[in-house]
Amino acid sequence: MTKTDNNSGLLQAELKRRIDSIQQDKQLRKLNPNRSDCTSFVSNDYLGLNTDPYYKSELLKRLEKIENFGSSGSPLLGGYSETTKALSEKWTQWYGLHQEKHNSLFFSSGYQANVGFFSSLKELGKSETSKPFSQNTELILFSELENHISLIDGIKQSNLEKRIFSLNDLNGFFEELEKLKPHQIPLVILESLYSMSGKQPDFKKLMDHTLSHRIYFYIDKAHSGGILYTNGIGIDPGFLSLIDPNQLILCQPLGKAFNSQGAVLTLPNSLAQWVVNKSKNYIYSTAPSNLLLEQWDFHLDYLSSEKFKITQQAYLQKITHFSNLINSDKVLVSYLEITDNKNSPYLSFKSPIFKFNFKRDQLQKIQDHMSENNFTIQQVRHPTCPIDKEGFRVVLRADHKKTDLKEFVLKFKEAISATLRPKEILRKKTREKTKEKKSKTLIIKQSLNS
Ligand SMILES: Cc1ncc(COP(=O)(O)O)c(C=O)c1O
Repeated sequence: MTKTDNNSGLLQAELKRRIDSIQQDKQLRKLNPNRSDCTSFVSNDYLGLNTDPYYKSELLKRLEKIENFGSSGSPLLGGYSETTKALSEKWTQWYGLHQEKHNSLFFSSGYQANVGFFSSLKELGKSETSKPFSQNTELILFSELENHISLIDGIKQSNLEKRIFSLNDLNGFFEELEKLKPHQIPLVILESLYSMSGKQPDFKKLMDHTLSHRIYFYIDKAHSGGILYTNGIGIDPGFLSLIDPNQLILCQPLGKAFNSQGAVLTLPNSLAQWVVNKSKNYIYSTAPSNLLLEQWDFHLDYLSSEKFKITQQAYLQKITHFSNLINSDKVLVSYLEITDNKNSPYLSFKSPIFKFNFKRDQLQKIQDHMSENNFTIQQVRHPTCPIDKEGFRVVLRADHKKTDLKEFVLKFKEAISATLRPKEILRKKTREKTKEKKSKTLIIKQSLNS
């Protein structure tokens, strides 16, 4: 046996040992092809455009006209064309922003855009290698607890000072802002729709309390862009009209409702120029191909069409219908992470994402039961979410039929009760009854007081 054979044998043995240990912890991730005989409640293709015949035929007409498909290079080496420039301007205008003040930069994925933006800020911190602001100014990052790993990785690479806050405790966040020194500029990092819980920040409320601060906002719209608000811009236009656009950075990953891949980062010109000069993920990566750009361009046109408006309206109604089905069921609602609650710190706007939390030993049984009944759901486990929030992220799609939803609810309840031991069922019933009693007493008290 040669030395190389021996080394590779050692590596394989070590990998096997470690993978076995992941498996023993029931944490092993595996690739499984989607089952075509199942109705999926996992996919982020929110509008169901991936299989939409109208979308396909209209897109094909556009693709027919393209003369060159490829990318030709990285943005600074042949990968930036008149087509790129025109689409960048169109994208900026989609938000009602002006290309003289803002620019839209294209990345090959949302992960690259988030890491690329934040890592480029490295030089603006306080570390020994960075060149601090000439006026003793300093950027401080405020990152929401549930932010996506691509944001977290980017923030880590930036080396800037960071504070973690939670939308559950806005007052705590406002207090932290008050403590900042005049030379510290806060950059608040949020998602517009959190994919692991379905929560949506109330941006208008945030603005009401923060208008007097010089706050920058970085908003990742991966899960709301292409579905929510007029033309699917994915963020409350009221917020856009309140915020100073010079303090706004919007990231739109395109792998979800946009039925594509890649990402567009829209930001004030000075920051865009910084990214073009400093972001390794932008400079040293092949620019998205013309094929992709044509699809993105087509998608922007689709979002301003009557067809989109009709689909969007029907989808929102379906979300309300499904939400009512879940929220009116005592069993299901008791597992829901975010309930339909008017006092919630989040927007009351319905989300297509419903997160159900279970104990770890229930997960596989529930998933198998659903699979036997031709429904695909996927466990969300630690480290993707905190250990006490493991469960299922159930995603509603525009092309789900009402009968699918009814059947899903029925089978899901069946699956849950099959995982409960008789004692637990009894305890759960008692808990539900107490809850019901409490809420009845509250209603009586409220009506007496009013
Ligand atoms: C909020 C958020 N940002 C960024 C990404 C990464 O985007 P991409 O899949 O295009 O790399 C995701 C992916 O799921 C996401 O959920």
